[in-house]
Amino acid sequence: MMIAVDGPSAAGKGTLARGIARALGYHFLDTGSLYRAVGLMMIRHGKALEDADSAAHFAATLDVDKIADHELRNERVAEAASRISAYPQVRKNLLEFQRAFARKAPGAVLDGRDIGTVVCPDADLKFFVTAATDVRARRRFDELRGQGVATTYEAVLADVMARDERDATRTTAPTAMADDAIMIDTSELTAEEVLKAVLEVVKDARG
Ligand code: DC
Repeated sequence: MMIAVDGPSAAGKGTLARGIARALGYHFLDTGSLYRAVGLMMIRHGKALEDADSAAHFAATLDVDKIADHELRNERVAEAASRISAYPQVRKNLLEFQRAFARKAPGAVLDGRDIGTVVCPDADLKFFVTAATDVRARRRFDELRGQGVATTYEAVLADVMARDERDATRTTAPTAMADDAIMIDTSELTAEEVLKAVLEVVKDARG
């Protein structure tokens, strides 16, 4: 079974997708980490983020096992990821890896922005996870503060809005809800409540 989980940043899609995969014993891929890894390579090699050819090269030669997750989880890398993810060749070079991952047995859960629309249009189940912008900014702010990052709520809100705008308006594979996706607004729900509701849907779908 193939399950797609899409949505804007800090909506809770990663937590949900990971929870579904754990509950079902499926493989899990955070596709944002691929774009973040390309962003990190651009920074490490001192490339300008406008350099689409270098970004495409790093996407084609990416070895995700060589990059530690903690290196990807900062705002500078997130910003770089959002920028390079707009380049069609970058997206194309990451596509086959994601599609092959999605076919893994006994099943796979992928989270991202374009899983239900572009990467796995034939996914068995698609969820589009969203939440009010201020709720998402508050969650991201609390997370950053928990990591000891000095920032303000206003700065995080501005960041979240800028990134959403860029991800949703780019020409190639923007953040979008597939016609056959189930929309989940997590603004007023805990992660446990969301997972429980979604697992009911999955159970029904599996019969
Ligand atoms: O989900 P995230 O914040 O880790 O994603 C980082 C960036 O990668 C995000 O700003 C947009 C991009 N991205 C994408 O374009 N397509 C995906 N399937 C996943 C992420």
